[in-house]
Amino acid sequence: MKKKLKAIIFPVLQEDSKLKGDKVAISFLKDIKKKELFKGEAGEQFIYYNTEKEEEWLFLGLGKKDKLITKKALELSGGAARTLTSKNRDFSLHILEEKLSKDILNSLIEGFYIGQYSFKTHKSDKKDKKVYCDKVEGNIEKADVKEALALAEATVIAREISNEPSNIIYPETLAKKVEKLGKKYGFEVEVIGEKKIKELGMESYLSVARGSDKEPKLIVMRYMNDKKSKEILGYVGKGITYDSGGYSIKPTSGMVTMNLDMAGGAAVLSAMTVIARMKLKLNVVGVIAACENLINGSAYKPGDIIQSMGGKSIFIGNTDAEGRLTLIDGVYYAKTVEKATKIVDIATLTGAAIYTVGSVATSSISTDDKFFASMEKAYELGSERIHRLPIYEEYDELLKHPFADLTNTAGNPGTITAGYFVAQFAEGVPFTHLDIAATCRSERDKGVYSEGATGSGTRPLYYLAKVLSEK
Ligand code: BES
Ligand code: ZN
Ligand code: ZN
Repeated sequence: MKKKLKAIIFPVLQEDSKLKGDKVAISFLKDIKKKELFKGEAGEQFIYYNTEKEEEWLFLGLGKKDKLITKKALELSGGAARTLTSKNRDFSLHILEEKLSKDILNSLIEGFYIGQYSFKTHKSDKKDKKVYCDKVEGNIEKADVKEALALAEATVIAREISNEPSNIIYPETLAKKVEKLGKKYGFEVEVIGEKKIKELGMESYLSVARGSDKEPKLIVMRYMNDKKSKEILGYVGKGITYDSGGYSIKPTSGMVTMNLDMAGGAAVLSAMTVIARMKLKLNVVGVIAACENLINGSAYKPGDIIQSMGGKSIFIGNTDAEGRLTLIDGVYYAKTVEKATKIVDIATLTGAAIYTVGSVATSSISTDDKFFASMEKAYELGSERIHRLPIYEEYDELLKHPFADLTNTAGNPGTITAGYFVAQFAEGVPFTHLDIAATCRSERDKGVYSEGATGSGTRPLYYLAKVLSEK
């Protein structure tokens, strides 16, 4: 096979800044800037072939330093990686800039790795198994590189599992994957089958699961690395491995991507891999109440009234509002059985999320300001955006139903009422809800994003654990 051409990505700021390292590259860069061949504007890519070294150099513009947020750094660096991946290069990331913050550097490294990903598992023309370029050089600490690469790998894990179709990833196979990753990275995994789920009284979760021939699996991940502390951070990820809508059936156009309805669960799982790899000092429990939302003779129906582990009855206004039904039992389980003292749920919960802040940010509600402040920090470190929506007391009325304690169709504002429904089962512990329905998927290859799953939430969930472990 022909040897791959070598290439190097040099990310550079727009303004003149302090550079250190390869003198030839620096003087070349100064020259192209002086001649205005390359300005360093955000997203600009200048490619040059150095015949002497037989290397291709890609100068990547980062724009002005005061406008450069982590999300942008991730996206730009991912864009450069995507350019070189499409040219089949063997490339590295080289930092010449001296004054980039640690957070920005991490995002650049993560983007460089993640931008190489696309979902090719089922393509028969793939030549070799994908080998990721992960060489990072220049002005950067080794420890930071390790963490950033672990996070990038985790994002790729989340994308890959989420992208797998529902005939490949369903509760049982998802559970197997989690067990494998738990063994590999060092967290405990317990998989609970239908019989025990029934004994636990998780009737709301089971009501959704009954419409499928595939057995539900309650997947529990435990990472207990602070034995002295009673604090346990609980992550509950939506794990609907396929959402047809049930009897409130979705049109094909809306159904075709619903293998991704476990992207919240994938984010929890992939965050756990890094939490364990980086040996963070805290206790974390991850819960995925995995099942399919399908139609058969036992499936739940619009108009049904069901029970829940938390003891509240629920009127089913729509069987497509299934995520919240699995989450409430997952959250209640995390609180009462696993003794989680703070809970985050992450879910592809509402199509309405696209109408709040679009696909730019994850929509959120929280019952605790301090907890949310940590989450905001975690999102910034995780190179994503989060937007907190309000919980007004008037929304209480919307959750009520004349025939049952609650309704699963509390109406508009749909993203808030769905999250607020879940919050009812986290009473007594600080709770934050993350709706990733709008951020979980990309329509096309663009920069760090590849068509399909984005791995949304993976890095923020890791950083939340890190932020809390350092307190
Ligand atoms: N899984 C969907 C939400 C979704 C939609 C995620 C599009 C990703 C992209 C969820 O289970 C759902 O169907 N929600 C309904 C709720 C409604 C019936 C109250 C929705 O958003 O339409
Ligand atoms: Zn649904
Ligand atoms: Zn769903």
